[in-house]
Amino acid sequence: MSYKVFDKEFLNSLGYQTPCYIYDTELLRDNLDIATKEFHHYFDIHSSIHYALKANDNAQVLAQIKQAGLGVDCVSGGEIEHAIACGFNPNDIVFAGVGKLDSEIILGLDVGIYAFICESLQEVMVINDLACGSNKHAKIMLRVNPDIDAKTHKHISTGTYDNKFGIAFDDLLDFIPSLDSLNNIELIGLHYHIGSQVMDMSVYAKLANVASFHYQILYKQGLKFSDIDLGGGLGVDYESPMTKPIANFGDYFSIIKQNLTIPYQLKIHFELGRSLVAQCGIMLSKVLYIKNTVGTKFAIIDAGMNDLMRPALYEAKHLIINLSTQNINETYHIVGPVCESTDIFAKNLSISELRRGDMVAILTSGAYGRVLANQYNRRAMIKEYMV
Ligand SMILES: Cc1ncc(COP(=O)(O)O)c(C=O)c1O
Repeated sequence: MSYKVFDKEFLNSLGYQTPCYIYDTELLRDNLDIATKEFHHYFDIHSSIHYALKANDNAQVLAQIKQAGLGVDCVSGGEIEHAIACGFNPNDIVFAGVGKLDSEIILGLDVGIYAFICESLQEVMVINDLACGSNKHAKIMLRVNPDIDAKTHKHISTGTYDNKFGIAFDDLLDFIPSLDSLNNIELIGLHYHIGSQVMDMSVYAKLANVASFHYQILYKQGLKFSDIDLGGGLGVDYESPMTKPIANFGDYFSIIKQNLTIPYQLKIHFELGRSLVAQCGIMLSKVLYIKNTVGTKFAIIDAGMNDLMRPALYEAKHLIINLSTQNINETYHIVGPVCESTDIFAKNLSISELRRGDMVAILTSGAYGRVLANQYNRRAMIKEYMV
């Protein structure tokens, strides 16, 4: 298990035009192997991992994920169509999202997805009406907002009452009885997703406890559902990807298992995205210019915030290394060519001296990288390659 893509000679020999994303097939396979092994160690065959396709939708990446036996978590009709085109079985798809279009609901009904994850009573009623209109039957899970602080960046926190996601449990208790009159839906379970890049495992202990508590309350009220979906969010190491290229799947599944006090036969679903794909991707870029502005050295590279949005969107920090030379370190602001001051990948970074033409790698870019890329400033869409 290693980072093959960091071999400098190897990368230089590829001759890819920069900027570009490169995905390491072997490392992806290692991640999937360990994730599925740890998952099966703690959860039985009725349970499943649905890969959160939003993290990386590259068809070859998806092919490996499908081969590993995972289902998919989609958040739009486009993602459902893409997942099916990439060979996933509709029955392995869960469909989340706070604002589903009628056309997307109809698509989900037509192809026969496993379940809709619903975020309001109004949404449930719309799904019921659309299902009734086409003589179909929809399985739904209700997304609970458990008001748990995921202790992550505020822009990727989704499980507190400040966030638009989910339904407060008390509200859900109020409206559950009214679901009895909706004949074209079947409530199969509850869903939770409290945020992304969660590193503090105690957050997951809390989530499992809260979900178990909710299950028991509903059980006492006579509601017996079959599924609980605990979402995704497991974080990866952006600081030392070379020594920790695999996320902490063992601790994650183990802590959830230990803290779930629900009947054994319930199907537990996970929706991991970042932890499966982040480390297998790097972004390659070349240094265009070095310039000095009153003591501040800027290294201007050919990748911009349009190619990797995470630093501009979430103040994310990625490790950046100079692949071309091993010189004495210098300090730079690493910036892109886009006409925005937020087009900055690192501030005051100490890195082996950079020169025009040097190749740099921006690590841990396999998740929420290419999927968020755009053509702002009418720049070319960044390419991706598998190695
Ligand atoms: C509903 C849902 N499930 C799963 C995920 C995947 O999260 P992550 O990539 O952090 O595992 C997300 C992403 O935010 C999400 O919104």
